[in-house]
Amino acid sequence: MKGIVLAGGLGTRLLPLTKVTNKHLLPVYNKPMIYYPIETLVDAGIREILIVTGGNSAGDFLRLLGNGKQFGLNHLNYTYQEGEGGIADALRLAEFFCEQQPIVVILGDNIIEGSIRKAVDAFREQDSGSKILLKKVDDPERFGVAEVRDGKIIGIEEKPAKPKTHLAVTGIYMYDSTVFEIIKTLKPSGRGELEITDVNNDYIRKGRMTFEMLDGWWTDAGTFESLYRANCLAAEKQNRQK
Ligand code: G1P
Repeated sequence: MKGIVLAGGLGTRLLPLTKVTNKHLLPVYNKPMIYYPIETLVDAGIREILIVTGGNSAGDFLRLLGNGKQFGLNHLNYTYQEGEGGIADALRLAEFFCEQQPIVVILGDNIIEGSIRKAVDAFREQDSGSKILLKKVDDPERFGVAEVRDGKIIGIEEKPAKPKTHLAVTGIYMYDSTVFEIIKTLKPSGRGELEITDVNNDYIRKGRMTFEMLDGWWTDAGTFESLYRANCLAAEKQNRQK
């Protein structure tokens, strides 16, 4: 199984922090933000990783991460997203890298307390389709929100004004290689992006998506509040481990 970290976009919700640099290079406690999703993949036993970047300071990822030695890797792969086409548009760029293998995709600003190892192992067994990780949150309107009935996901709404549940779709997605065929059928959403939620709803409609609840805390870091929260949670976790 291969891993993909999506670290493009313009990070406009964090201006002026992102005026001259890329959101995923900003500090979260004592490490650049992108370290956390890479560590999450490596912890799950994934050794072949592609970084999709774009926007400001794209070249700095190479300077910062090199071949991934600090994560115990021998090699890292990179590709470049032009413009701001959304998460599914960024993922499209990974098709060449995946060679028909199943993939784990993680958003470069998603930070977790625990591990996704068990879920990734379960997806290896599942063999095809997709799996996502859900987390109960107090502010579901900020996220993709899943509706679950009889233990199955029946639909996801992207940032609904009136969320049907408190189940946020985290930015950790597992897909078989048909994901790239699905992306080719997508149309831009109201915000002009190819939405990952449209990809996920396609799998749901075909009855090809499973889910698990994510253990431990989860946060994104794309707004001032969530970046601050990410710093506090990361600091607390690392100080606890000392
Ligand atoms: C994106 C997805 C959303 C998901 C979230 C997780 O939102 O569109 O479905 O819940 O990541 O971090 P965005 O960061 O684009 O607001």
